[in-house]
Order: sequence, then structure tokens, then C-alpha cells
Amino acid sequence: MEEETGQETISDLQKKVDDLRSRLAVRKRRRRSIVVTQKLTKIYGRGATRVPALKAVSLRVRKGEFIAVLGPSGSGKTTLLNMLGALDRPTVGRVYIDGIETSGVPENKLYKIRRNKLGFIFQTYYLVPTLSALQNVLMPVLPVKGSDRYRRRAERLLKMMGLKGRMHHKPGELSGGEQQRVAIARALILNPGVILADEPTGNLDSKTGAEIIQLMHWLNKKRGKTFIVVTHDRRIAESAERVFYLRDGRFSRIPIEADG
Ligand SMILES: Nc1ncnc2c1ncn2[C@@H]1O[C@H](COP(=O)(O)OP(=O)(O)OP(=O)(O)O)[C@@H](O)[C@H]1O
Ligand SMILES: [Mg+2]
Repeated sequence: MEEETGQETISDLQKKVDDLRSRLAVRKRRRRSIVVTQKLTKIYGRGATRVPALKAVSLRVRKGEFIAVLGPSGSGKTTLLNMLGALDRPTVGRVYIDGIETSGVPENKLYKIRRNKLGFIFQTYYLVPTLSALQNVLMPVLPVKGSDRYRRRAERLLKMMGLKGRMHHKPGELSGGEQQRVAIARALILNPGVILADEPTGNLDSKTGAEIIQLMHWLNKKRGKTFIVVTHDRRIAESAERVFYLRDGRFSRIPIEADG
């Protein structure tokens, strides 16, 4: 009798799991595209110094996804991120951020998209050494610096990053992991939907790197941020929802294990 109940429970559970899986799959299909590229091509230089860094790369990322982009040095990862972040323009092809074709937006209007829709995290943090952690987080909103609202938000973000006691420290007085958390808070100050990260754990030791990865996943799961992370870090690749592999400026189907 007991055994039967047990079996029933297991098959019930199995049904529930199957049901959840199919509902999740439906939800995933319904999530709207937030970052799209069409045949994105970037050629640096001309003539003898011509470097085709990206070759017709098409990508579709849905809201709330966590994407890792892997590939050997020189394969075009940073170039891709620069195009996605509208930091540089493609030679050919299109980039859409939240439905807006950024490759068609004039330069003097691009900064608004960068500011409001995108957050950036870099390997070397790019913090201003003479400013405190709090002031660094407020950097993207400098033109409206006086606003108490942003100051409170910056303080909240730094607390959320576990940096309550470090707000008035300068970058030089912080550890690498702490500096990266300040940079992440700065990326979040204007509440962008998409975070673009270039080797966010590249300068960190293994344990600190793991904490930053955990933090990114928390922001992805709990705050719904879409992440596109360029990385050599296997742990990021292993924990990502999808992994793209770049080779010589193209997405390749070669499994990540092949990179050695
Ligand atoms: N501003 C530039 N001018 C000319 N060539 C460039 C420029 N930036 C990058 N490249 C070239 O484009 C190719 C792709 O570079 P990219 O920086 O995107 O590689 P990556 O995958 O990010 O490499 P890494 O893992 O070393 O950071 C390389 O061959 C590089 O030399
Ligand atoms: Mg790079």
C-alpha cells in the first residue's frame, strides 16, 4: 500500500515536472526579443591593414536571457559587444536594441539609448580613481547630479552589492571584487534592461570571480536583467542559458570543449 502511494507520488511529480517544463518552454518562446543583430559585419581599416573582425553575425536574444559568448583571442568578441552597445558602428548589417535600430540612429541621439537601455561591465572596471564609490556609481547621471533620487538609488545599489561600508572609499582603496561590484552598481543606476559584460571576471581570482558570477545571475533571475557576457571563464559558460562560440568573426557550432 505504502509502495503504491510512493509510486503515485513519483508519477504525479513527473507529470508536474513535465507540465512545468512545457509551460516554461511556452513562456520562453513568448519572451520578446531585446537584442537582435542582422548580418552584422565589422571591417577595421582598409587596404593592407583591412581586418574583417565580424562576418555577418545574426543573433537574437530574448528578454531575461543569460547569454555567454566564447571564442579565442581576436575572434571578434569585444567587437561584437561594441556593436551591440552602440559604442561603434557596424560596416554592414543592423543592430536592434529593444526594437530600436541603433545602427540607424544619429550619433547625437545614440547616447540616450546607451544610457537608458544598456549597462556596461568591463574587465578593468573603468572606475574614476579620484571619485568615491558612490560618485562613480553616479557618473552616468552626472548632468542631473543634484538629484537626491539618484543618490538614494546609488546608495541602495551599493548596499545591495554588499558595499554599505565602502561608499566613500576611492577605487584604489577597494579590492578587485569590490571595484567590480561598484562598476556593476554603476551599470544599474539608470535601470537598463540589458547588461553587456566584457570579461567581467577576467581580473579576479577564482573565488571573487565566482561571487561576481553569482551576483550577475541574481540580477538576471531576480531583477530580470538580460545579460550578454563575453568571457573565457568556463563557469560563466556552464551557467549561461545559451552559449555562442565565435571563431574568426563568425558564430561556430564547434562545442566549447573544443577550445581546450
Ligand atoms: N580598432 C581596431 N582597429 C583595427 N583592428 C581591430 C580593432 N579592434 C579590433 N581589431 C581586430 O579585430 C579582431 C577582433 O578583435 P576583438 O577585440 O573583437 O577580439 P576579442 O575576441 O575580443 O579578443 P580578446 O579575447 O583578446 O579580447 C582582431 O583581429 C583585432 O586585431
Ligand atoms: Mg576582447
